[in-house]
Amino acid sequence: MPHILEAGLEMMNNSNPDGLPKIQGYNIINGQLKLASDGSTFVSTNPAALADELGEFPLSTREDVHDAIAAARTALTGWAATPAPTRGQIIGNMGRLLMEYKDDLVRLQAREIGKTVKECGGEIQEAIDTCLFFQSEGRRLYGQTVNSELPDKELFTYRRPLGVCGIINACNFPSAVPFWKMIPAIICGNTCVWKSPQDSPLLSFALARVMHQAGLPDGVINLVHGKGSGAGQYIVDAVDEGLINKISFTGSTEVGKAIGEVCGRNLVSCSLELGGKNPLVVMPSADIDNAVAGAYWGGFGTAGQRCTSLGNLILHKDIYDEFMEKFMAKVRTTRIGDSLKHEDVLYGSMLSEKYAVDFLKGIEMVEGDGAKKVWGEGRITTGNTPENFQGSPEGGVFMWPHVYVDVTEDMTCFHEEVFGPAVTVVKADDFDHALHLANASPYGLSSAIYTNDRLEAYRFKTGIKAGMTGINNSTTGAEAHLPFGGVKGSGNGTRESGIWVIEAYSYWHAVNDELSGKLQLAQMDVDEIEMVEAEVDYSSLA
Ligand code: UN1
Repeated sequence: MPHILEAGLEMMNNSNPDGLPKIQGYNIINGQLKLASDGSTFVSTNPAALADELGEFPLSTREDVHDAIAAARTALTGWAATPAPTRGQIIGNMGRLLMEYKDDLVRLQAREIGKTVKECGGEIQEAIDTCLFFQSEGRRLYGQTVNSELPDKELFTYRRPLGVCGIINACNFPSAVPFWKMIPAIICGNTCVWKSPQDSPLLSFALARVMHQAGLPDGVINLVHGKGSGAGQYIVDAVDEGLINKISFTGSTEVGKAIGEVCGRNLVSCSLELGGKNPLVVMPSADIDNAVAGAYWGGFGTAGQRCTSLGNLILHKDIYDEFMEKFMAKVRTTRIGDSLKHEDVLYGSMLSEKYAVDFLKGIEMVEGDGAKKVWGEGRITTGNTPENFQGSPEGGVFMWPHVYVDVTEDMTCFHEEVFGPAVTVVKADDFDHALHLANASPYGLSSAIYTNDRLEAYRFKTGIKAGMTGINNSTTGAEAHLPFGGVKGSGNGTRESGIWVIEAYSYWHAVNDELSGKLQLAQMDVDEIEMVEAEVDYSSLA
């Protein structure tokens, strides 16, 4: 099989609408294109136009994953020894190439996961920003010089790479999130095995190609496609086999806990970015129109398929009616459809059929709890379309926006994430009650409060247990240079993005250099300076 940069895109026969191409996709192991060792494949489908197949990809076997890990292990020594500024230069090249290809990659991403073109643009930009941010980190990656307690001795700290990193991300942020993970991983001198999300293999293939085009040596990032329960699991199993030194995972809390257990028993570092039931509180002093705009975007942007999407909308009882009237006016007129074909849609399709099935189970749970539905009719079908739906319902997997009220703390749906366009509304008596409700779910990813009372904002900021908080802003929209991550059921405390992420991909190596030519014992051979007795009466001075 040829090297990735010697191969062009290989077209397959297809019956796609609009003459769109179908691509033969490959794993990329040590820079070489590879099919699955047993020849098995899967197809990537456009969820907003199900007749449109983007490509066929290898369903990787355990052997394929082991080959990828072996390539990453072989590349490790050379990559870790490459000067960090050179590693940074390659990362900078990736950013510049992404800028060059941005428009095409944005449309490809929209075609593969059904997210709007505008949002895909924001996401590719986040990947670019990540590259530009870390490019110059190659010129820093600072360690410290530390003074010794002994003469003729020097102390230093160095950042060292962890080794081979297993990267497993979800398809809702298929470009920004793998860059959040792999760019800091490689700037620190690690190598990676990247399991692409099953619903965005073509975009991942294109991104991995761009990385190689930027000058990345073979084997530093190896791409394998397949299922979470297949290739993803084989990467995690390799932790038990002693072959993986770090796992970085974005996905469900359930899977994250299982990965954490495997890593824990092997003393292997893991970064876990998991679910959220993100609260947004609206208080009486808030600018209600602004709060409505933030809640609407947080709940229904990306069809509610962000881990930072609004979950529980917590409204103070005094503004409840006014807020709901304005909020529902927006919800009822939501423009939904394939944004590659229709301008100005708020959201597109679900990420794939699987996400649609899980979402329908989620709203069944909400309804089973006795929450009162005020809007939403499940899947959009002919004869069951909201007024501003664009296009043909059965062409893709589209969902109504859903709003449920009278949700209370004793209901399962108050605590469980529903991944998709559904908001659960909870009424609060006062600020303390609102803060209690905001803290009452098992998650702690993002959170928000709308208030113009500065003391309330302060109390929310200091009282909420969450990794991220918006004040007079939505729950979504973290910037690429702030730490991203959660507490409680939303993660294990590691952070992605921004400079803090470096901690997750390196360890501190403390070195002491004894220049005295003799054995000097720390703590024991240290000069002891006695205090001198010289009494003086300071009390008479004033
Ligand atoms: C995710 O949903 O996994 O803050 C990531 C945000 C985005 C990232 C979301 N910048 O909503």
